Amino acid sequence: MQGPGDPIAGAIVVMSGRRTHGSRGLGDRCGFHNDNVTYFAAAPYSGIRRTPTRPYDRSAMAAPTTESAVASTARADARWRPTASTVRRLALASLVANIAIVATGGLVRLTNSGLGCPDWPNCSGGSLVATGKVSWHKAVENTNRGLTGVIMIAVVAVFIAAYRERPARPAVRWWAWVTLLGVPAQAVLGGISVLTDLNPWVVCAHFLLSMALVGAATVLWWNTRTPTPEPSAVPLLVRRLGGATWVLTYAVFAVGTLVTGSGPHAGDAKAVRLPLRPAAISQLHADLVMLLVGVAIGLAVFAAAVGAPPAARTATRVLVGVLAFQAAIGFAQYFTGLPTGLVELHVTGAAVLAAAATATLLALNER
Ligand code: HEM
Repeated sequence: MQGPGDPIAGAIVVMSGRRTHGSRGLGDRCGFHNDNVTYFAAAPYSGIRRTPTRPYDRSAMAAPTTESAVASTARADARWRPTASTVRRLALASLVANIAIVATGGLVRLTNSGLGCPDWPNCSGGSLVATGKVSWHKAVENTNRGLTGVIMIAVVAVFIAAYRERPARPAVRWWAWVTLLGVPAQAVLGGISVLTDLNPWVVCAHFLLSMALVGAATVLWWNTRTPTPEPSAVPLLVRRLGGATWVLTYAVFAVGTLVTGSGPHAGDAKAVRLPLRPAAISQLHADLVMLLVGVAIGLAVFAAAVGAPPAARTATRVLVGVLAFQAAIGFAQYFTGLPTGLVELHVTGAAVLAAAATATLLALNER
């Protein structure tokens, strides 16, 4: 028996095939020993279990583990490791897909196809896809549902890339999770709006979740950027103004959904409308927009005055441009009786604005 203080009575035998750098992932270079055995002369007792000293017996040392270990290392090395720019492109694709589905959702509403598929998750008659005599409305709604599959592919792709990338970037992984979980949540909310015959409150929530998802996809994309080497701090006051602009933007979205909820484009003739006077709620919407435009212009001026980093200054200018365009479309559609083409542009513009406002906030707060 060995025990404390028994100096060289044993040796620790380390079998080959064990990882030598446990904390690194598969595929790293430090891999495995090719030797079957490594001997360490036993140190004075330190609580490590020792095996009795035996003559070195190579045949007994399970050679097959070496081959399988080498093979599995080769397999791990061969697995896909995306570059930072691939992750970035996939994040951009996910952002574009999130904006695109807002546009196609707008088309569903404006072509009165909201209940084209009267059921959910099946389209009708127990079938996931439109069958039998397919009406125009059913085709539109069915296509929009199919696009959820495309957007799911986009968020899954960026999610996998975020987890395969080395070195890992925790913020990228975190936001990849948010977008990954957001899309099925949105699909369920879309289903609830169908099952409640396009209840306007549910439709409002469906649209606002879309805006939140576009924001999340923007943060994900932003985090895949290579950080600027020397980001310079923007004064707190200007950053706060950026925060206020972002909050006001989302407030305008919220009131905009109430305008839609009380307006004529319900998505189906039998959908109920919100008990609000369209002219009054449109007025509130436009008033908030005026405030937002003023604050955003102030933000762009201050950002330039304090010498904010170029990315932040550009972002504030782009934001003002998108806002001006969106406001112009808003007035145009209001005074021309809400033609579907302009309303569709207004819906898509809101999604682009969600991305622009979020990117501006991030650019101002980059440190
Ligand atoms: C920054 C500017 C603006 C933003 C971000 C914005 C955003 C929105 C949003 C998110 C909706 C709801 C879309 C939906 O639920 O599908 C909406 C609807 C609407 N907005 Fe704006 N809006 C802006 C400017 C304006 C202006 C200046 C007017 C002028 C009165 C206006 C008039 C309307 C109208 C009438 C609707 C309802 C359209 C419908 O019936 O579908 N908007 N807006």
